[in-house]
Amino acid sequence: MPDPTGYPELDALIPRLQAIPGLGPDALASEIVAVLGRKGGELTLALRSVPTRPPEERKAYGAAVNRLKVQFEQAFARRSELLDDERRSREQAALDLTMPARRRWIGAEHPVTTVMSEIVEIFRGLGFTVAVGPEVESEWHNFLALNFPPNHPAMDMHDTLYVDAPPLAGDQGGRLLLRTHTSPVQIRTLLESPPPVRVVIPGMVYRNDPFDPSHAPVFSQIEGLAVDEGISFVDLKATLVHFAHQFFTSTTKVRFRPSFFPFTEPSAEMDVECQLCHGSGCPACKGTGWMEILGCGMVHPAVFEHTGVDPERYTGWAFGMGPHRITMLRYGIPDIRLLYDGDMRFLEQFVIEGRQGGGR
Ligand code: PHE
Repeated sequence: MPDPTGYPELDALIPRLQAIPGLGPDALASEIVAVLGRKGGELTLALRSVPTRPPEERKAYGAAVNRLKVQFEQAFARRSELLDDERRSREQAALDLTMPARRRWIGAEHPVTTVMSEIVEIFRGLGFTVAVGPEVESEWHNFLALNFPPNHPAMDMHDTLYVDAPPLAGDQGGRLLLRTHTSPVQIRTLLESPPPVRVVIPGMVYRNDPFDPSHAPVFSQIEGLAVDEGISFVDLKATLVHFAHQFFTSTTKVRFRPSFFPFTEPSAEMDVECQLCHGSGCPACKGTGWMEILGCGMVHPAVFEHTGVDPERYTGWAFGMGPHRITMLRYGIPDIRLLYDGDMRFLEQFVIEGRQGGGR
């Protein structure tokens, strides 16, 4: 109990001093203003009244006001500290430490990326190296050097996306276009490095196609090219059968059908046993039991002529496959657009342990 000051108007404040420990946060804030406020606070006014007191009283009265002021200040500080402590412990009690943590979102490779690296790895295991080429390509590399006749319908505006830009200085390649396949990199590779050559070429290609369940205007390809002395169709077949057994299963059946490409002769298409019905026929393979996965053939002598490779000395083979298509076949994906949507509900199904993206 604070001592009475002997001044009635100051002693009248003592009950308010004693009431401070019972004040809540709002009442405390207004009491601080009411007692110590710069403008109308009780003790501020009392101090301001010192000069109006009789001279012999001023000193003692001022001292009494100041003592009371210190007592109020200490009581206010203690009370607000206590209220802060109480608020903090209430907040902590509201934290439920048993609540399960939110799962960290781990990035992962897109299924097409995974399929592409698996394919490339199989060929690296056979001694192939990886090459790449530009996606904006010249008409010469994309078509003419690959033995497409100059009026071939594949070069039509309706089939191919031309780029409205002047050819690069010194480039004799004609108009520019978005490459329609990875085969122009066969030309670039042979022009750059003489045989023996064994490369795989992954990349994106473009066609003036609709975006529907089985087409996309942008999709992936992996090209393969092997050129050396004494290479035959037997090497082509053996390599691609080995690939199919590695990538699918060791007992997956494959078949070759005759086909045509201007830059290979003879040419073939390779089918693998349908991965969904294992040959008995289902909607995915249109009842045939087979799925086409690539085009291939022996490198046409005209390609060697355009790239300065001696066709009397060297032979070679090439293939081109579509990883988007192969991804669909492997997982039974019915609509190619699912591979472009970026919908997490779809993509999450392909998170493969050890193939998380991010740090790789
Ligand atoms: N470039 C061809 C295509 O896109 C595929 C292919 C590549 C065929 C190499 C034979 C040899 O259809």
